[in-house]
Amino acid sequence: MYGKMKEFLSAELKSLKEQKLFKYERIIESPQGAEIEVNGKKVLNFCANNYLGLSSHPELIKAAHEEIDNRGYGLSSVRFICGTQDIHKILERKVSEFLGTEDTILFSSCFDANGAVFEPLLGPDDAIITDSLNHASIIDGIRLCRAQRWIYNHGNMSNTEEPDPATGKTLKGLERCLKEANEAGCRFKMIATDGCFSMDGDIAKLDQICDLAEKYDALVMVDDSHATGFMGKTGRGTHEHFGVMGRVDIITTTFGKALGGASGGCISGRKEIIDWMRNKARPYLFSNTVPPATVGATIKVIDLLTASTELRDRLEKNTMKFRREMTEAGFDIIPGVHPIVPIMFGKYENCSQLAVDFANRMLDEGVYVIAFSFPVVPKGKDRIRVQLSAGHTIEQVDKAVKAFTKVGKELKMI
Ligand SMILES: Cc1ncc(COP(=O)(O)O)c(C=O)c1O
Repeated sequence: MYGKMKEFLSAELKSLKEQKLFKYERIIESPQGAEIEVNGKKVLNFCANNYLGLSSHPELIKAAHEEIDNRGYGLSSVRFICGTQDIHKILERKVSEFLGTEDTILFSSCFDANGAVFEPLLGPDDAIITDSLNHASIIDGIRLCRAQRWIYNHGNMSNTEEPDPATGKTLKGLERCLKEANEAGCRFKMIATDGCFSMDGDIAKLDQICDLAEKYDALVMVDDSHATGFMGKTGRGTHEHFGVMGRVDIITTTFGKALGGASGGCISGRKEIIDWMRNKARPYLFSNTVPPATVGATIKVIDLLTASTELRDRLEKNTMKFRREMTEAGFDIIPGVHPIVPIMFGKYENCSQLAVDFANRMLDEGVYVIAFSFPVVPKGKDRIRVQLSAGHTIEQVDKAVKAFTKVGKELKMI
């Protein structure tokens, strides 16, 4: 009896299209890379999470082929039945060494890792204290556990509580939330944060978070999906960037961005927590193992990144050049050091449509970027989110800045 639902969905989909919120997919006809083919035309790609330019790297492709030859295509099993090969254990050990943690457990994705991590550790007597802009998968993982929740205002470390001028809702700082969780007599307290926030490209203040965690006897959980492989001097992540390696209890991350970009993720951290996950984490117990090709290629990535910092250094150079030149050109960009660079449109009239028109004009100029509007970002915070890659050459970064400047002038933004 699909009829009533069909009518409902058709009307909702029509409304999304009318509000310009319907998501259309642009079709890519080439491998992922700094240059891709879209509609038969070669364009520069400035919107992938391909931070280190490894998505189509020949050494990774070779490693994936080799592991298909050596260990097969798939395992047809979850890990604990007959889905664990020697290479899964090797990857877990290498990831732990790279991140500076005690142990690691693999998942099919970081979405799964975040869905898995809270429920086995925290119950109704416990507290989860979470940044208001955390990724959807952290939010969903927290929903699956029965801990008491405190949401702190994004990036606010303070012991304060203030009304939000926009909504009238009360906004609390992290320390205020920790105090309240203490006063509520919670058994365990865990702070959960993204390492780098994907819409603004800003970085969680992990040094202050770790200090507050110590002061209030809380654990720290960081999702470093937008940092593993390139943040910090040797690319270990946000914990290296802030000099707090060893002080973060749980790191979740993805292999689907900087680390090759296929799929897979993990929870890495304290030994007992990882052992507990092997026994209790539902996506680990009830979902298939990571396939050999992905495991083999991710091992290769970790080896490459351990041997040299060349890729993260190149990414840093590209990022700082782009940020500097776009600021000089007169664009409104959120300052920072991360390769996610949001070009903001909020101060212009009709900003949602302007951002979409801008992105379409950029494609005409041979640069692929995407506009983000409500509900992905708050109303009035429309933007084009640029992502730099180590795979971009200096000339390609130049070309992107020139195209932005040309279109910006044409649309009277700069
Ligand atoms: C912060 C963050 N966590 C988790 C994920 C999910 O990662 P995966 O693609 O491995 O499921 C993403 C991907 O968008 C992300 O940005």
